[in-house]
Amino acid sequence: MLEYENLDLEQQMAVRVAIKLGGGLISDKSSMKKFNPDAVERVVDAIFPISELEVSIILVHGAGSFGHLLAKKWKIAEGMKTEISKDQREAVEEIRSDMRELNELIIDKFTERGLACIGHPPSEWAIGTGARFMGDISVFERAPGEPIPVTFGDVVETDDERGFGILSGDDLMFRLSTELDVTHSIFLIGDADGVMSSPPSEEGSELITHLRSELEMEGVHDTDIDVTGGIRLKIDRALEISKEVDEVWIIDGRKPNRILELLTSGQTKGTKILRG
Ligand code: IPE
Repeated sequence: MLEYENLDLEQQMAVRVAIKLGGGLISDKSSMKKFNPDAVERVVDAIFPISELEVSIILVHGAGSFGHLLAKKWKIAEGMKTEISKDQREAVEEIRSDMRELNELIIDKFTERGLACIGHPPSEWAIGTGARFMGDISVFERAPGEPIPVTFGDVVETDDERGFGILSGDDLMFRLSTELDVTHSIFLIGDADGVMSSPPSEEGSELITHLRSELEMEGVHDTDIDVTGGIRLKIDRALEISKEVDEVWIIDGRKPNRILELLTSGQTKGTKILRG
C-alpha cells in the first residue's frame, strides 16, 4: 500500500507534474468523436489523491478521433491549399469546436469528482506549430490547490504562408515541461505499458523500460502514425524534455495509479526517458 506521506514536505512543495492524456486513451481513434468516459474517469480517480498532495498539476490532452480524422481528410497539417482553402477553413473551425467539446467532456469528469479545472484552448493563445511555437504559458504556473489548467492539441494560426497548422499536445508538453520547473513529465498512452519493442499486438513485443536516444527507437512500435506523428513524436519530444527534466515517463494510461506510484516511490512500470 502506498503512503502519500512517503513524499516528505519539502519534496511535496517542489513537485509539479505535467500529464498528457493521449488521444488514443481518451477516444476511440478510428470512430469519429467517440469519447472514452471510462478511461477518463480512471485517470480522474488516479489524479484525485495526487491533487490532495502539495503537487501542482498541469494537464494536456490529445485529440484522437475529435481531431485527427477531419485534420487528415482536409490536410490541415500541410497548411492552406488554395484550391480547397474555403473548405479547409470550415474544417479548421469544426475541428476547433470538436476539440473544445472534448475538452469540456474531460473537464466535466474532473468537476464531477470535485476537482476544478480551467481550459485554455491553444487556438486562443498559441501561434505556430512544433516545439518552438509562440504564446504566453504563464497561466499554467498554478500553485497546488488552485484550479488545474488544461490545454490540448489544436489547430492554431501560423505566422507564415501556411496560415494554420496543428499544434500537438506533445509540443505543448515540451514547452510546459521545460519552461515551468516541471519535475515529472508524464505521457499516458492507451495501448501499451510504455514504448514497446514492436507493435503491442505482436507476439514477443517487450516493454522498453529505459530509452536514452533516438538510436534505440529503431524497432519501436509504429502502428499509430497520424497527422502529428504518433508515438515517434512523443518519444522525440520526451527525449528533448529529458534534457531539462529528470522524470520523463511514457506509461499506460489504462493503469493510471502508476502515476501516484511513480510520485511516491520514484518507480513504476513504464518507459523512463533518460537524458542521452
Ligand atoms: C492533435 O493533437 C491535434 C489535432 C489533430 C487537432 P495530439 O497530437 O496531441 O493528439 P493525439 O494525442 O495524437 O490524439
